[in-house]
Amino acid sequence: MLSLLILLLNLTNHAFGQNPAIKAILTNKGLQYASHIGADWMQEKIGSMIIPDVRGGVHIGIGTVNYVLDGISVSGCDVPEPSVEFYEGVGLKAVISGLSISFTGNWHTRFGIITDGGSFDLAVFNVDVASVVQIGSDCSGHISISSENCDAKIDEASINFHGGASLIFQPFVTLFHNRIKAIIEERICPVVEEHVTDLERHLAEMQVSFKVNSALVLDVPLTNSPLVDSISLGLDLKGEFYSVQSHTDPPFKAEPFNLPEDNDHMLSLGLSEFTVNSASYAYFSAGLLQAQINDSMVCIPKTSPFRLNTTSFGPLIPQLPKLFPNMLMELQVYARDVPMFSFQADKVTLKFPGAVKAFAIQPNASWTPLFKLNVDSIFSGVIRISEEKLKGLMELSNFTLTLASSEVGIFQVGCKDTPNDWTAEIVTLNYWCLFVAAKLEEGIVLPTMHHIHLVNPALKIQEV
Ligand SMILES: *[C@@H]1O[C@H](CO)[C@@H](O)[C@H](O)[C@H]1NC(C)=O
Ligand SMILES: *[C@@H]1O[C@H](CO)[C@@H](O)[C@H](O)[C@H]1NC(C)=O
Ligand SMILES: *[C@@H]1O[C@H](CO)[C@@H](O)[C@H](O)[C@H]1NC(C)=O
Ligand SMILES: *[C@@H]1O[C@H](CO)[C@@H](O)[C@H](O)[C@H]1NC(C)=O
Repeated sequence: MLSLLILLLNLTNHAFGQNPAIKAILTNKGLQYASHIGADWMQEKIGSMIIPDVRGGVHIGIGTVNYVLDGISVSGCDVPEPSVEFYEGVGLKAVISGLSISFTGNWHTRFGIITDGGSFDLAVFNVDVASVVQIGSDCSGHISISSENCDAKIDEASINFHGGASLIFQPFVTLFHNRIKAIIEERICPVVEEHVTDLERHLAEMQVSFKVNSALVLDVPLTNSPLVDSISLGLDLKGEFYSVQSHTDPPFKAEPFNLPEDNDHMLSLGLSEFTVNSASYAYFSAGLLQAQINDSMVCIPKTSPFRLNTTSFGPLIPQLPKLFPNMLMELQVYARDVPMFSFQADKVTLKFPGAVKAFAIQPNASWTPLFKLNVDSIFSGVIRISEEKLKGLMELSNFTLTLASSEVGIFQVGCKDTPNDWTAEIVTLNYWCLFVAAKLEEGIVLPTMHHIHLVNPALKIQEV
């Protein structure tokens, strides 16, 4: 019973079973870039490889010569660029051919009471290392890697002894030779495996939830195991934004989608509508899609003849200046419901249901409600990446205005034959557009990982 409960907790802890809303594909080009980093790491690790002392004895008929090789350290190594490829259904296969490593150390021999000693140089050449790494996922949605197979083969080794009466011992060299070759051969794969374990530890510690700003969290655990084919690695991520305060799921779900491979780029990243709309929902449910507009704000230029006051609204709503003579006004603009983005080929559409409430500011600073207009607006345009933020560059393409309530009596909304260019409708709509544009310009910060930055991001919108 208990184990079942734990299992259930683990299962609900991550996003398995849910459609991914973000997909990433690492192409061969990206893999080759990443493998450079791996080669540098190998160079460093092999340089600090620890070789244990080698002890042994050689029978020479009249007794045994005991030897010890100690203080063995790497004096140099040359790690050629590994060849790394995707290994279908498993992960990665890396091959390093022609690796060479040189060592220095001391030798000591004892035959009865006769001791001798000196130093030696050792070099191994044409070392081939082949490693297969399995890529999977852990229960909390991290990528996991493990060493599936590793094989190291030393082709040639040469050893030179210096000092002591070393000439006497040179005949035993071939015996040391094979022994030490085998010992070094055995040490190479543990270095590779240590690298994999190190990487796995980093991956397990990697965040799968990022606080992108004071209001939003982005959850990106894997929704299923990474998919490896012969030319790419595909990752399916949850890609859901949450409000920091409420952390509730939106009332809509991620739809399945396909991300086409683009082998000219290192990484393809696909964001579905769901990701963007979950951010929209999070902002909306946190009460952040609202603003107040007054006459002294920069969006209303000082030179404009139209002021946000009851006198200016006179030609539009004749009764207004009579009821509230020459008073400044304040507008409350807000989203009535979750603004929803939809992606079409090369275009993004935003349905933004909103409202504008107008108030008169009384001489005693209290606000008197005047009217409320519902604005059902549709914006269309593009989404772009700028300063590592996702921003919308959109224009109003359609709207419907309705008078939702009025404390100052009925007035004409959307009257096409008003002789005046300025109608209450146009004025209100202008403020509404300023508000939406400001929200879109704020954008969403894309979480970036350590040392990884987007270089010349290319953004494409695709209908799915
Ligand atoms: C207008 O709004 C701005 C920003 O919210 C505020 O600093 C300013 O005091 C307001 N002005 C008036 C007249 O209410
Ligand atoms: C209201 O706007 C008019 C211009 O339409 C301006 O002449 C007047 O001074 C403004 N009144 C206030 C209180 O700002
Ligand atoms: C402010 O003035 C208005 C209109 O004269 C009045 O209705 C309202 O009660 C006053 N509010 C306060 C807090 O004095
Ligand atoms: C604007 O929206 C209305 C109502 O949704 C629709 O009837 C009309 O065709 C739309 N106009 C354009 C130009 O898209």
